[in-house]
Amino acid sequence: MPEQHRPEICDYEGSTYRTDFWEGQGREYEDRVERIAIRRLLPPTGERLLELGAGFGRLTPLFSGYKQVVLLDYSRSQLEFARQHYGDEGFLYVAADIYRMPFAPGLFDGATMVRVLHHMQDPLAALSGIREAMRQGGVFLLEFANKQNLKAIARWALRRQDWNPFTPEPVEFVKLNYDFHPRYVRETLIRAGFKPGRTLTVSHFRLDLLKRIIPTGVLVALDSMAQLTGDLWQLSPSVFVRSEAVGEDSPAPKGAFWRCPACGSFDLEEGEDRLICADCGAQWGKHSGIYDFKEPLAEG
Ligand SMILES: C[S@@+](CC[C@H](N)C(=O)[O-])C[C@H]1O[C@@H](n2cnc3c(N)ncnc32)[C@H](O)[C@@H]1O
Ligand SMILES: [Zn+2]
Repeated sequence: MPEQHRPEICDYEGSTYRTDFWEGQGREYEDRVERIAIRRLLPPTGERLLELGAGFGRLTPLFSGYKQVVLLDYSRSQLEFARQHYGDEGFLYVAADIYRMPFAPGLFDGATMVRVLHHMQDPLAALSGIREAMRQGGVFLLEFANKQNLKAIARWALRRQDWNPFTPEPVEFVKLNYDFHPRYVRETLIRAGFKPGRTLTVSHFRLDLLKRIIPTGVLVALDSMAQLTGDLWQLSPSVFVRSEAVGEDSPAPKGAFWRCPACGSFDLEEGEDRLICADCGAQWGKHSGIYDFKEPLAEG
């Protein structure tokens, strides 16, 4: 594979995302409504599911109906935490860049990506790679941050925000943090080889004031109902869309699992602590139960 321009990566290596953002940080409401949306949209059982940008595995237990779950993330430290919790039975941990995934085409019949498109500088490249790793008919569940949400519309109307929430182009409101228009996401999914289907709007009541004065259980129940209008209009800050992988799968040798991210070869030999590419010689590390495709090991 020729070395192309690589999109930048929002690196969570060593980040305290779990403790700074989730645990004890007043986001029980967001966490619970996301779980409701995933349960509604994702087939509960299947063969092999790819969790893209799995992080520390916050949502991983929802996918336990699949025979194997592959957790992929760029951050080794997030994956290490997940592995301590879920172990190796039915789970595989892969440190890699979504833009350069190490999988043979057609490997997955399920895939999820939650709170990750948010960091993608090149959504079409990311989604095309995901489609390739999936098989035709597989289900892909994508969450994205919606620029056309009520808060952004109000801020724009009051001239407190300079970007227009109704135009289709992504907005980078902080370096490598993007909000997307639902139409843009749909079109990009189609271009990448997916057929977008049922959509749920999520986290309608993500406002500090509401979260303070209304019990979480009530907000969750209200959001759960409001989610069901997602096919009609999308004005919430978070949107989940279920798509089907369509079109021909790329060819791959029967039984192939890995693909060398450096040269595209399917011929990777597994040793005790590394995978070695028979074609280009690149060596990919394997340590503490995590396959590492971020950078090849140094020679020798
Ligand atoms: C906001 S966290 C979401 C984690 C998890 N999906 C959740 O909802 O709790 C974003 C995750 O995406 C990962 N990520 C961002 N860019 C990536 C890339 N190019 N390749 C692989 N992972 C990436 C980060 O390492 C981080 O763990
Ligand atoms: Zn190679």
